[in-house]
Amino acid sequence: MARLEAAIFDLDGVIVSTDRQHYLAWKRLADEIGAPFDRERNEQCRGVDRMASLRIVLGPGHRYSEAEMTALAERKNGYYQALIRQISPADLLPGAAALIEELERRGVKRAVGSASRNAAAVLERLGIAGKFQAVVTGHDFTRSKPAPDVFLTAAARLGAAPGNCVVFEDAAAGVEAAHAGGMKAVGVGRADLLAAAERVVDSLAEVSYADLVRLMEAAPRRG
Ligand code: BG6
Ligand code: MG
Repeated sequence: MARLEAAIFDLDGVIVSTDRQHYLAWKRLADEIGAPFDRERNEQCRGVDRMASLRIVLGPGHRYSEAEMTALAERKNGYYQALIRQISPADLLPGAAALIEELERRGVKRAVGSASRNAAAVLERLGIAGKFQAVVTGHDFTRSKPAPDVFLTAAARLGAAPGNCVVFEDAAAGVEAAHAGGMKAVGVGRADLLAAAERVVDSLAEVSYADLVRLMEAAPRRG
């Protein structure tokens, strides 16, 4: 039977609300190059790494070279980094700080597993960088979610068995990555998009240590 040994948190959309900053940065770039971009297309970038997000922003049939695309992604990142300089603990999503502290008190290992190469800077600004024994970011792996690499790397750094890890994710690709790594997943956000997760919540405020113990002890889902 699985037990609750470690919790691995996605960052953007789970711990912190960076949706607005990612949207504004992509929107500025898209406006500059005349690409159509709206909130719906931004939604498709949830959990997706920077270059793959750029491909979503540009859409099919664009004529940019790889070198030009790298420059466009860097330009967006410059806009994003300027926006996240304003991030403070007030941007923590509801329940995040309390759950992380409860898990710390209960001796549950904690990691961040994020596609973002800005994750370390965001955690510093939120004032919670010291709460995690491992922080795995887009710098640490090449295969992005839905590949399990990010979460398996986090589990290995924590010294935790993957089957004893629970992952918190706001992106369907992240839930898929957790399952591919043999972990259970709690979806944070839209139930229609995250239906594959063992449990879906609106925010981490709905989750307690006791819930997670039960979730880990429950039989794995079939199929
Ligand atoms: C994910 C976000 O966490 O990180 C995506 O959900 C983002 O929107 C991705 O594209 C990569 O982030 P960054 O900071 O490396 O551009
Ligand atoms: Mg996310």
